Amino acid sequence: METVLSGIRSTGHLHLGNYYGALRNFVKMQNDYNCFFFIADLHSLTTHPHPDDFHASVKIILSEYLAAGLDPDKCALFIQSDVPEVSELYVLLNMLAYKGEMERTASFKEKVRLNPENVNTGLLTYPVLMAADILVHRANYVPVGKDQEQHLEITRVLARRFNNMYNCDVFPEPQSFKFGSGPIKVPGLDGNGKMGKSEGNGIYLYDDEKTITKKVMRAVTDSGPTEPNSEKPVVIENLFTLLKLVSEPSTVDYFEEKWNDCSIRYGDLKKQLAEDICKVTLPIREKIDSIYNDEAFLHRVTSEGRDKARASASATLALAKKAVGFRAF
Ligand code: TYM
Repeated sequence: METVLSGIRSTGHLHLGNYYGALRNFVKMQNDYNCFFFIADLHSLTTHPHPDDFHASVKIILSEYLAAGLDPDKCALFIQSDVPEVSELYVLLNMLAYKGEMERTASFKEKVRLNPENVNTGLLTYPVLMAADILVHRANYVPVGKDQEQHLEITRVLARRFNNMYNCDVFPEPQSFKFGSGPIKVPGLDGNGKMGKSEGNGIYLYDDEKTITKKVMRAVTDSGPTEPNSEKPVVIENLFTLLKLVSEPSTVDYFEEKWNDCSIRYGDLKKQLAEDICKVTLPIREKIDSIYNDEAFLHRVTSEGRDKARASASATLALAKKAVGFRAF
């Protein structure tokens, strides 16, 4: 059976971008693949979270993962730092990753631009740690959003480089999983690119109806179409992109028609969008708190997940170390 793996940083709450870009696809895959899903707490250290908040952030994301439908009996659900083999493989892969290629990564350049005061080398080698996450389970598929595609390409480069350098085939080259048209980018509500945790433009699975409605009603729009069948400006296209994710095709068609004949009222579009987002998120939100407060359940899930993940990771690490030339005395 082929292996699927994906992860999410333990920062903030899950938003619609995480859900539609990655999580919803994991949930669909867990019946048919050997699945590993984890919370990337080591990756979250690049932004230096306060020690008092660190564990709570992991717990929030874990509870939201479970509420969104990940079934710990069907997949290995674990915390990245519970699997030390990942960090060991990260060291080995770092020797094959070149400074220049890491500096050219779009996510690194973006982080440098946004936070010039905290350009740590963990940020520089962020894609190498991600490659270690993936390769340590010899994953075949990685369901991620469009923003992670370059990291996946780096993972393939490192897998190939390792196999060539040590004349072995320890690592398969992982592919992004194509649902429909392939990896997607869920836009934010501010008209500025993708929905993100740090951008303040997101709708969270944890948001209540009132908050969702308020956020959607405040989304940036323009003064409306002036000619029939005209092209939509980005801010309006973004609202339609969200509508296509959460609403029935007939609803999307209705508003497309209204756009095309210039009779669209953005207030109606937003009201419908907010309602349909609530329909998707409400059943998830209702489960989050009870899962968050069930310490015994979370303990069981993460211990079993850790054991499954460590069994798989240690087998791969042994192969990798043998290929590199490590021998016991
Ligand atoms: P993170 O935590 O930023 O995002 C988790 C997942 O959500 C997807 N995503 C989106 N997809 C579409 N539209 C958006 N607006 C959007 N925002 C986020 C991301 O593509 C991702 O799939 N580095 C990773 C975590 C990670 C990982 C891994 C993922 C660490 N190791 C190994 C896969 C495999 C990250 O920061 O994702």
